Amino acid sequence: MSAPSETDGNGEAPGDARRLLHSYGRRRGRRLKPNQKNLVTGALPRFAVSAPEKGERLDVPGLFGFVPRALWFEVGFGGGEHLAHQAANNPDVALIGAEPFLNGVVSALQHIESRGLANVRLYQGDARDLLPSLADGALEKLFVLHPDPWPKLRHHKRRLIQQPFLDEAARLLGPGGELRLATDDEPYLVWMLERVPRHPAFEWTARTADDWRLYPPDAIETRYAAKARREGRKATILRFRRR
Ligand SMILES: C[S@@+](CC[C@H](N)C(=O)[O-])C[C@H]1O[C@@H](n2cnc3c(N)ncnc32)[C@H](O)[C@@H]1O
Repeated sequence: MSAPSETDGNGEAPGDARRLLHSYGRRRGRRLKPNQKNLVTGALPRFAVSAPEKGERLDVPGLFGFVPRALWFEVGFGGGEHLAHQAANNPDVALIGAEPFLNGVVSALQHIESRGLANVRLYQGDARDLLPSLADGALEKLFVLHPDPWPKLRHHKRRLIQQPFLDEAARLLGPGGELRLATDDEPYLVWMLERVPRHPAFEWTARTADDWRLYPPDAIETRYAAKARREGRKATILRFRRR
């Protein structure tokens, strides 16, 4: 488990050699209730992933206690509903979710415990700190669902979908692997469409409008997608195949 980092006024962690700009808003929300605190002390150690030292690889079978058919990763799982749904429906797959927001991690733990899931692990922190510890081609699927849109122009540099992130996704996904993005924010959708299909590693798989208008049958609507729908915004799902 990575220690929460203090940030300077620009959202950068002093002393962080990478000087990555924060792509997320907050790490803590409402105070945890006693049962939620119990999950943090009792369950979290069983499901937590620690980022290995720089240059070291994550031992995936060691982490899960079995050799999975494939490894999937969800960046910014929010409340963890989609992560738990995928884990429950794909018991032969190992799933890692990354989320800096403690209350989201606790919510994910509730899903994991209530469904008795053994194939999911949680990283409380910036996904970009853990991804480098995975081997080339290690992932079959990478989900980034409703990433923070950072609407102000001066904050666009905080958007997760940037060239370095796409390069890392290209390194991690094996041939035929899937990068799945979703957003309900139109300017961010345009931003994504300007960047991902132009990346040489990714091919947009949509053939009909339903391919980007509907959540695929293997997925569920996330909490943010449901909120967007209630507020009259539509979610768009973009699925890219690793060439
Ligand atoms: C708008 S919320 C969407 C949550 C969830 N995917 C959903 O659709 O309901 C974006 C989430 O991404 C998380 N996030 C942003 N940058 C991240 C990063 N670099 N690594 C991991 N999580 C990140 C935020 O903390 C936030 O919970």
